[in-house]
Amino acid sequence: MSVAIQMTAKDLYHRLRNIRVGGSVCQYSLKKCEELIPVVNEILRLKAEKNAVILVHSYVTPEIVYGVADFVGDSYKLSKDAINTSAKVIVFVAVRFMGETAKILNPDKEVLVPAREQGCTLADCVTAADVRRMREKYPDHTFVCYVNTTAEVKAECDVCVTSANVYKIVEAIPNDKIYFLPDKFMGINLVNEMSRRGIDKTIHFWSGSCYVHEEYTREQIFKIRSEYPEAKIISHPECNADVVANSDFVGGTEQMLDYMRKSPARQFLMLTECGLSSRLQSEFPDKELVGSCTLCKYMKSNALEDIRRVLTSPRPAERVEIAEGVRVRAQKSLEAMFRYAQGEVPAVVRACE
Ligand code: 13P
Ligand code: SF4
Repeated sequence: MSVAIQMTAKDLYHRLRNIRVGGSVCQYSLKKCEELIPVVNEILRLKAEKNAVILVHSYVTPEIVYGVADFVGDSYKLSKDAINTSAKVIVFVAVRFMGETAKILNPDKEVLVPAREQGCTLADCVTAADVRRMREKYPDHTFVCYVNTTAEVKAECDVCVTSANVYKIVEAIPNDKIYFLPDKFMGINLVNEMSRRGIDKTIHFWSGSCYVHEEYTREQIFKIRSEYPEAKIISHPECNADVVANSDFVGGTEQMLDYMRKSPARQFLMLTECGLSSRLQSEFPDKELVGSCTLCKYMKSNALEDIRRVLTSPRPAERVEIAEGVRVRAQKSLEAMFRYAQGEVPAVVRACE
């Protein structure tokens, strides 16, 4: 058993004090940190006692990111962190499909998802039966699923992608016919990006969207550009094509942070969930956030109390279980992603064969 590292309220406050986004959910005083620190330290103690690792997506509340996380990042980085851990238990503080991804890759580990709202508008908008129907309609297409899908949907597809590698992987697939699901905005952005790169592919896509990212408009960008002409506009590929076309940089959440980290600019508009804006304010205090951001109710439904509880007495719905037949086929889609992301071109084996 490893020794639990403990934290003081001042340590926590030091990390959280610059955060000013997301309304009262994400704003901290020393008093609030004093109230949070007993549960933070209880989680740190339980984590060591149970040989658990806590993986946290950047969108969850900052007291979780800066209080108890072992690893913080985007869905691609966290799926790799999940493979590399030697811990017995993985607490995945994010949304259900990310916990499922960890379970697909780690069938022998216990994976716990404490989110109270276990959905995601993208993962919930397409079923395995929908994919089977589309496969009948487009039999010669390679089926590419965004990681924001259930294990059952991944099991019906050939290759999984995340926002960090979607363009690279679709470009590398040795088939000029692609079916992408479930995000229509990412699908349109994919069509535009392939044409910008001179890649000739026929791409069909599903009709889903993320309720957080679909809210952003180019008018918001024009307004920010007129008020803050020096600001860099950074957006996620789940935003619509007009937003993407008017942004300075488009990428997955980890790539957005990396762009900002390396950019000499001082002001940024982050067109994504508020968690990224919080990380900007906490980790890059000399950079300024302009404009506003939007909260994801699913990501923000994770609470310290629930993380503590899943470490002692998880409810059945918080344990991730996947039927072995589904898991094995979903794993093929994820493994194809890892190989493409490393620059290999795996033989395209239909995941459902
Ligand atoms: P990332 O993979 O970029 O972290 O995105 C996950 C997500 O849910 C975006 O809405
Ligand atoms: Fe799903 Fe959108 Fe929330 Fe990401 S931000 S988890 S895509 S609902």
